[in-house]
Amino acid sequence: MNSAPSVDKQALARRFGRASSRYDRHAGLQQAVGRNLLTLIPLQSVGTALDLGCGTGFFLPNLQQLSQHLLALDLSDAMLQQARQRASVSCLCGDAEALPLQSASVDLIFSSLAMQWASSPARLLRELYRVLRPGGHLVFTTLLSGSLRELASAWAQVDEAVHVNAYPESQVWQAAARQAGFVPEHWQPRRHVMEFADLPALLQSLKGIGANQVNGAHRVGLGGRERLMHLDLSYERMRNGRGLLPLTYEVCYGVLRR
Ligand SMILES: C[S@@+](CC[C@H](N)C(=O)[O-])C[C@H]1O[C@@H](n2cnc3c(N)ncnc32)[C@H](O)[C@@H]1O
Repeated sequence: MNSAPSVDKQALARRFGRASSRYDRHAGLQQAVGRNLLTLIPLQSVGTALDLGCGTGFFLPNLQQLSQHLLALDLSDAMLQQARQRASVSCLCGDAEALPLQSASVDLIFSSLAMQWASSPARLLRELYRVLRPGGHLVFTTLLSGSLRELASAWAQVDEAVHVNAYPESQVWQAAARQAGFVPEHWQPRRHVMEFADLPALLQSLKGIGANQVNGAHRVGLGGRERLMHLDLSYERMRNGRGLLPLTYEVCYGVLRR
């Protein structure tokens, strides 16, 4: 399966923008994943580095330590406003699939849990290949198929609408990377399972990070109280041995060389 069918980038920017001031409070998983990713950067120091889809800029201080010139790019200006408070770096508001950067101008692209929002993995990776210098690295995480599977399956008991984004298989990203010209140096799918006391807390965690947008033509909201109660009943059947509601994230950790 390819990436989400159509991505309304303006709506996406607005949604992440609305979440920007509360994002850090809900981003425990994103912070853990990004910290893991920092350890995969294969270089001690680089010239120009880019944090692609930087969000509130949680990783900018770490990236600042290893780069002479650090750029932070995000679709959402409100996210960048948060990022500016974390580090004094050059902030760019733009789209990862059409970067406002010259070809072969960047040594390292770091991108954690942003690339899954691209409309096309192939187009995105071609664009990232274009801006990297020969020998430069893309160090990234993205969500894979199977992510949020419990939520998708609970919704499937309620109605036939699409409530949860479909994420590409690992092979889709691998093929896109190869076709763009990248050499893979590291490729590791890892499962992270979050746990919540109840459904409102689980839904709030997605809303809190702005990740509750569903791409594509059949976008629908949560709906009325009755449907939410039905959803709650379906999800309750998935309580785990610790009495909590699980939510799975299938995360691909990748390091690609241009
Ligand atoms: C889940 S947040 C991750 C933020 C940060 N990397 C972190 O790990 O905390 C995803 C971010 O990607 C940004 N984003 C989504 N699609 C993008 C695109 N096409 N170009 C640039 N940024 C994008 C969103 O605005 C949001 O700030």
